[in-house]
Amino acid sequence: MIRVLEVKDLHVSVNGKQILKGVNLKIQKGKLHALMGPNGSGKSTLSYVLMGHPKYKVEKGKIFLNGKDITKLSPDKRAKLGLFLGFQYPIEVPGISMKNFLWSVYKNSNNGKSSYVDFNETMNENFEKLGIDKNFISRNLNEGFSGGEKKRAEVLQMSFFNPKIAIMDEIDSGLDIDALKIVSKSLKKSIENNTGILLITHYQRILNHIKPDFVHVMKDGKIVKSGSYDLVKEIEKDGYEAI
Ligand SMILES: Nc1ncnc2c1ncn2[C@@H]1O[C@H](COP(=O)(O)OP(=O)(O)O)[C@@H](O)[C@H]1O
Ligand SMILES: [Mg+2]
Repeated sequence: MIRVLEVKDLHVSVNGKQILKGVNLKIQKGKLHALMGPNGSGKSTLSYVLMGHPKYKVEKGKIFLNGKDITKLSPDKRAKLGLFLGFQYPIEVPGISMKNFLWSVYKNSNNGKSSYVDFNETMNENFEKLGIDKNFISRNLNEGFSGGEKKRAEVLQMSFFNPKIAIMDEIDSGLDIDALKIVSKSLKKSIENNTGILLITHYQRILNHIKPDFVHVMKDGKIVKSGSYDLVKEIEKDGYEAI
C-alpha cells in the first residue's frame, strides 16, 4: 500500500467554535505539498488535529494513514505510525536536554537495537548539516532558543524521526536567508528519503528554494483550490482574495 495521509471531509471545532468545515486532502510519499492561506483560515488547527491534539474535537470526517483510520488515536501512537509535526510555535521543555530527548527518540525508533555510538554519529552529522552549534546538545529543548533556532531544532528532530509524513507549520518564519537555504536542503533530503511533507507557509520565499509538487489553498476552514507551483505565483500576484 502506498504511504499516504488522507483527510476526508474533516469538520473540527474548538471551544464550541467550528474551525474546519470539510477538509479533503491527500498527501503522497516523497512529495512536497504546500498548504497556503490567509491568517486564521485553519492551517495550524489542521496540523494539530492531524497529530491528535485533545483540545480539538472532530465533529465529522476521518483521517487515514496508510489506509488505517487514525482519527481516534493518541498522538504517541500516531508518531509511532510515522507522523511528525513541526510546530509553528515550538514549546520550551525545561529539564530535558536536546541530547536526552533525541536519544530517547532514536532508541524508540530502532526497536531498542540502537547503538549509542551510532546515535552520537547521527547527532553530530545532523547538527553540522543544519548549522546548529554543538553546545546546543546539552541545552534544554528549545529553552531560550531564538525563533530561528527553534525552527532549526524542529527540522533536526524531523531528520531524526525519519517520518512517513511530516507536517511543518510555518517552518520558514523567523529564518534568515542562510538558515532558509539550510532548512530547505534538509527538507529536500527527507523527500528523497520518501517522506511526504505538508509544508504550511504564507510566503513564496521558501518555495523558491524547494519547489512544491502540489499547492493547496485553505480559506475559512476548507481547501478551496489545489494545483501546481503556478498557483503560488498566482497568489503572490493577486493575493488570496482572488481565489
Ligand atoms: N482555542 C481556540 N479557541 C477559539 N478559537 C480558536 C482556538 N484556536 C484557534 N482558534 C481560531 O481558529 C481560527 C483558525 O486558527 P489557526 O488554525 O491558527 O489559523 P492559521 O494557522 O491558518 O492562521 C482562528 O480564527 C483562531 O482564532
Ligand atoms: Mg498557523
